Amino acid sequence: MIAGDGIGQEVIPQALNVIRVSGAKLEFTEFDWGADRFLRDRTTVPPDGFAMLGRDFDAVLAGAFGDPRAKTNIHAKEILLGMRCKMDLYANVRPVRLLDATLCPLKGVEPKDVDFVVIRENTEGVYTDAGGVFKQGTPDEIATQEDINTRKGVERIIRYAFDYCERHCKLDGAPRQRVLMCDKSNAMTHAGGLWQRVFKEISGEHPQIETRHMYVDALCMQMVRDPRQFDVIVTNNMFGDIITDLAAALQGGLGMAASGNIHPGKTSMFEPVHGSAPPIAGKNVANPFGAILTSAMMLAHLGFKPEAEKIEAAVLEAVKQRKTTQDIGGKLGTREAGEYIASLTCRT
Ligand code: NAD
Ligand code: IPM
Ligand code: MN
Repeated sequence: MIAGDGIGQEVIPQALNVIRVSGAKLEFTEFDWGADRFLRDRTTVPPDGFAMLGRDFDAVLAGAFGDPRAKTNIHAKEILLGMRCKMDLYANVRPVRLLDATLCPLKGVEPKDVDFVVIRENTEGVYTDAGGVFKQGTPDEIATQEDINTRKGVERIIRYAFDYCERHCKLDGAPRQRVLMCDKSNAMTHAGGLWQRVFKEISGEHPQIETRHMYVDALCMQMVRDPRQFDVIVTNNMFGDIITDLAAALQGGLGMAASGNIHPGKTSMFEPVHGSAPPIAGKNVANPFGAILTSAMMLAHLGFKPEAEKIEAAVLEAVKQRKTTQDIGGKLGTREAGEYIASLTCRT
């Protein structure tokens, strides 16, 4: 468990407590990786850190990384993007579910209308940070940021999306049936061409799955206009980042959104979609439900399905009873909302 910075320090302890009371038999080891440690001794990830996580642990539960005192954000990059890339957690799975109609900013949208998942490529794209700066600080400065797309990387994430579609049901029990690939191949023709070709090829191996394509700009518009049409969306690293903040808003905000960084068969990492939210950190106001739903995702991944379902049911009930933090309409603090979920989880 790596709570990290800002509200990570507040929401992760709540998630941990909920896991404990769920009855899932797990042992936790806490790591202090984050801004405080970095500012103290300049350590971002200790030597052998990623190998140690992969070797000694079944999963990692992380909070958020980012602190205004650590201006370059190097620690967040090395810890968070380091785990994703160096542990090769290539599939960032971000479910988008509306638990109650009152949480959605759109008119006339019900929980059954918002139940899709974004499968985000998590190790390539512009996040490789390939490129460079030349003639910095001069009028001739040049900055390049390369968008790296490998055949292997594109193929495995698209395959993951089709497999996910086959293996998962919607909340109402109906099977998932559609995979949509989102890119910007009208402008980014080299990378887009690769994604288009691979998508077509893998689609051919799954004739029972309906496929579709959207440019990312149009997808943003459609997500707000009619989220009912989405089922499984697969996209690159950066588009996946951007559209999942938009998608989080459909669920009630960043405080509600969960995610898993997964490589099947390897130690995977689970973290809420939100960041460290410095302006609200330390005030007991952050919504812990995204982190708690993330812990349920982790439990399901580790084979504790009944415990995960108990936690999800508890969050749903708390939302319906408005026993929530202020961002989604309740009056509770982070701790009180977390403790309420824990009390509902023990009871069931
Ligand atoms: P953010 O997600 O921290 O906050 C965006 C907005 O959402 C803010 O208004 C914030 O108050 C609100 N918010 C976020 N989580 C909330 C919660 N649980 N409950 C209630 N409100 C919540 O994004 P940002 O402001 O762009 O970034 C802040 C820092 O976090 C930066 O350093 C950024 O790089 C980092 N960050 C880290 C991660 C991560 O570690 N996974 C993700 C995103 C951003
Ligand atoms: C996320 C975050 C990260 C990302 C940042 C903190 C690098 O926004 O997990 O969504 O862009 O992936
Ligand atoms: Mn993001």
